[in-house]
Amino acid sequence: MSNKKLSKSDATKNIINKEAKLSDTDFIVSKTDTKGSIIYCNEVFTKMAGYPASDLIGANHNLIRHPDMPKLAFKVLWDLVKDKKEFFGFVKNLMRNGGYYWVFAYITADLDANGNIISYTSVRRKPPQSAIDAIEPIYKLLVDAEKSGGMDASAKLLTNFLKENKTTYEELVINLQKGANI
Ligand SMILES: Cc1cc2nc3c(=O)[nH]c(=O)nc-3n(C[C@H](O)[C@H](O)[C@H](O)COP(=O)(O)O)c2cc1C
Repeated sequence: MSNKKLSKSDATKNIINKEAKLSDTDFIVSKTDTKGSIIYCNEVFTKMAGYPASDLIGANHNLIRHPDMPKLAFKVLWDLVKDKKEFFGFVKNLMRNGGYYWVFAYITADLDANGNIISYTSVRRKPPQSAIDAIEPIYKLLVDAEKSGGMDASAKLLTNFLKENKTTYEELVINLQKGANI
């Protein structure tokens, strides 16, 4: 028996347009080590992702990465948390059956008494439908830009979008989670 852990390459390639929704009272919680391998997940996580905890613990968090997510979102995430800052964002996650679920995610570094990063923690809840409706076309533009011009292209696009809308990434995300329109 192999004890090789699951990774993104083991995730289903059979993407289906089937959405699962978190309930209003659900929280999805997970923790990773400093490299992004899962060291803890709660029951709601296992239920939504569709894997037993025994498959998830030790696996890289990118096991549930959905191809509709722009690379830029994860760059923003890691740049912030490695810098001990908080990340807030909307994430479309891949289920084992090829379906997806949207979350509003909060991710932060866990520090020891000396301020060293020892792990990362994420808590997610259900986003309002208006936020998903607003963010989905933006992510599509970013993913398309990345296909032709890489992350430089998507970063430029996002910067221009924020400038045109006279907002910042943080402000946009918090307003969308409050149910506001862009
Ligand atoms: C605490 C924590 C939670 C994360 N949660 C998710 C998540 O729910 N979905 C996801 O796709 N990536 C999540 N990530 C980011 C992944 O580590 C990874 O950067 C992302 O899936 C993109 O992977 P890739 O660059 O290998 O494609 C999380 C990272 C951390 C530190």
